[in-house]
Amino acid sequence: MRCAAFRYNVPMTADQHWLARARALAELGRYTCSPNPMVGAVIVRDGRIMGEGFHARAGEPHAEIHALRAAGPRARGACLYVTLEPCCTHGRTPPCTDAIIAAGIARVVVGTIDPNPAHAGRGLALLRQAGIETLCLNDRTCAELNERFNHFITTRRPFVHAKWAMSADGKIAPATGSARWISCPESRTYVHKLRAEYDAVMVGIGTVLADNPQLNVRLEGTWRQPTKIIIDSHLRTPANAALLQGAPTVIACARAADPSHADALRAAGARIIALPGPDDRVDLPALLELLGSEGITSVFVEGGAALFGSLFAAQLVQRATIIIAPMLLGGQSALSPIGGPGVPTVEAAWRLTDVTITSCGVDTILSGRVAYPRSPRPSSSAVNAASTAWPSDNDASDGPSAPGNRHRIPPCSA
Ligand SMILES: NC(=O)c1ccc[n+]([C@@H]2O[C@H](COP(=O)([O-])OP(=O)(O)OC[C@H]3O[C@@H](n4cnc5c(N)ncnc54)[C@H](OP(=O)(O)O)[C@@H]3O)[C@@H](O)[C@H]2O)c1
Repeated sequence: MRCAAFRYNVPMTADQHWLARARALAELGRYTCSPNPMVGAVIVRDGRIMGEGFHARAGEPHAEIHALRAAGPRARGACLYVTLEPCCTHGRTPPCTDAIIAAGIARVVVGTIDPNPAHAGRGLALLRQAGIETLCLNDRTCAELNERFNHFITTRRPFVHAKWAMSADGKIAPATGSARWISCPESRTYVHKLRAEYDAVMVGIGTVLADNPQLNVRLEGTWRQPTKIIIDSHLRTPANAALLQGAPTVIACARAADPSHADALRAAGARIIALPGPDDRVDLPALLELLGSEGITSVFVEGGAALFGSLFAAQLVQRATIIIAPMLLGGQSALSPIGGPGVPTVEAAWRLTDVTITSCGVDTILSGRVAYPRSPRPSSSAVNAASTAWPSDNDASDGPSAPGNRHRIPPCSA
């Protein structure tokens, strides 16, 4: 059977068609399944869907189990399409491979191999040992679904996504520092949806003092609220800062400050972590290690320039999304998005790969994965530009080596 084109206007095979259906199901877990990956599954027999499902929440059944339950005895002899290799170990739930074998599934087609080094390929091997035919399509769109999970599971550090809004002349604020939205209302709604996908949202103290942001998800309905993280060397966060309301807030500082102010911040609900780093500032790599160890798998960083400067210089950012507003702010001293020392030469630039460009209201949104020159990750904020060898797209990506690993921004539907 051949189906209408889904992407690239080329005919799809039946396997690609059903995998695309499974991928669409996986999307339903986008805002709820962290720290687990998004996964969708479809069981097909004689060209008809017998059952389908997706993974909604950690601790709840995996997509394959939902699909098997929906199919019941009709799963026997059928083909299971699943976006990610089925798990083969006991986690919060029993291994899916056992359930697939017990249900009498005849063939399993997966989008990608599980990047978790403890699992990779073992699930499919177990299924083959049980006499089930297996196929991995190495599907790029399935790999893209889980760029955050794939990074976290292979590095144990959160996936870091930097986002800023800037004028068309590359300024993130007017020279006066006046705090006004640069992006249009549609882009701001889109940003709220992006926030909702992340375990945590991070800003520097400069942004807290200039803009007093709330950093919560303000959309209709019920949404998971990310943990808020402030990078604040000397605990300058006001105890009445807007972002101390609502979701848990972590303030990472470099050294103990006025104990009474620290007490006031704790009383306002903040958790204070001291992680002294170079230049009497917060040790950002150490902070990410700590967040990862506490199960924060992804961080959405919303500025400002000094924080972005340190994060990029330490090669800690995996994705950048830039909202470009059709306005010009000018001013020699107006901030550009990435502060710090920057790179010394064009050859040493931090590159965006797999770039997508979309329109949102009057704004243009550019998003890409960040690729760094092949050089050791700097241990301090100094930029190591000794090498300008470039990794291939695949090397720059995390997790499964999907060819090209292009990313599609969900349409801006604000
Ligand atoms: N258009 C946008 O998308 C956007 C987004 C956010 C912010 N902004 C604008 O950007 C401006 C604020 O940016 P900013 O550069 O002044 O401040 P920032 O990046 O928000 O915060 C920087 C401060 O964080 C502290 N810090 C602690 N550890 C650090 C580390 N390892 N690396 C870097 N900083 C560390 C430092 O405070 P200490 O000096 O106390 O050590 C530093 O001054 C405001 O005008 C705001 O409106 C625009």
